[in-house]
Amino acid sequence: MSKPRVLSGIQPSGNLHLGNYLGAIKNFAANQAQFENYFCVVDHHAITNPQDPKALYQQTFDVANAYLAAGLDPKEVTIFIQSHVPEHTELGWILNSFCYFGELRRMTQFKDKAGKHPEEVGVGIFDYPVLMAADIVLYDANFVPVGEDQRQHLELTRDIANRVNYRLGEGTLVVPEPLIKKEGARIMGLDDPAKKMSKSATTPRNYIALTDDPDTIRQKLRAAVTDSGSEIRFSEDKPALTNLLTIYSLLSDTPIPMLEERYQGQGYAQFKSDLADVVVEALGPFQTRLRELDSNPDYTLAILRDGAARAQAQASTVLRRVKERMGYVLPS
Ligand code: AMP
Ligand code: TRP
Repeated sequence: MSKPRVLSGIQPSGNLHLGNYLGAIKNFAANQAQFENYFCVVDHHAITNPQDPKALYQQTFDVANAYLAAGLDPKEVTIFIQSHVPEHTELGWILNSFCYFGELRRMTQFKDKAGKHPEEVGVGIFDYPVLMAADIVLYDANFVPVGEDQRQHLELTRDIANRVNYRLGEGTLVVPEPLIKKEGARIMGLDDPAKKMSKSATTPRNYIALTDDPDTIRQKLRAAVTDSGSEIRFSEDKPALTNLLTIYSLLSDTPIPMLEERYQGQGYAQFKSDLADVVVEALGPFQTRLRELDSNPDYTLAILRDGAARAQAQASTVLRRVKERMGYVLPS
């Protein structure tokens, strides 16, 4: 029996952080045996914001290396760069005609980025969810593991896929489902628990980068915002502690009620210091592997090239299916 398919992607834009790890990367690795997996580095998505060319180049390796360092097995899992498989942009173009202006205008991420000057926002940012839909349906993906911020884009992907099936016939595209974990799908900023931890944060105090050294991690956690009062409790009126407890629990595999009990009557300082130990220890082996991979880009590139060949074999069959049903004259 064939396993259900999974596809997900991460943008090579900015520093990978603990939110990316807990909301996405760690789960990709933990669940890889259950699925047939495709993970891509979505460089075409990253360029919807201006990127420094040297940074884009390095960050593309960084994301691929993070997949590998987290334990994705390149023999079992297809890891590739989005732009190595041109079917993504071609199907993205076609899907544009299956998606409405009004749908894209309502996307929260677009509205956030468009801010107060929607007339001057790039068309790429506006159109970005359609390319994401193409990324997913090209692999007949059944499930898409992502953080909470991507739920709306997944809903749109489902609407597009259903519309394609309605117009071109059932079975043209697989309609995917999001895989969003209850815990860790929305890690909040250390400087402001009302905002998510983000690559594009204005201050590095917002996030713990996956490459931060132990001293930096300790310092950032010491400085992390806390709630009024002194209790270490998981509740809506304690957003900062709720976030820190979530991180502690996921990285140490300890249920939150057990942590609440352990820290009863203790102050924030001890809790934060222990949390720093947990983060440093959990990231240690990952960071060691990351450094090894970073020193050997040819190794990573060989994996990415092999991945692209495997990915393209799959993607081209789906693109062909769509084009045939639409009446395109195929070149061969
Ligand atoms: P991005 O950094 O936008 O390319 O996101 C890569 C993956 O990390 C996506 O699955 C996001 O949903 C997830 N992600 C990003 N930020 C967070 C966060 N603060 N908490 C949990 N997951 C996140
Ligand atoms: N939009 C996603 C993000 O910002 C990245 C992404 C692009 C993606 N294509 C995808 C995620 C396909 C899952 C599946 O995080």
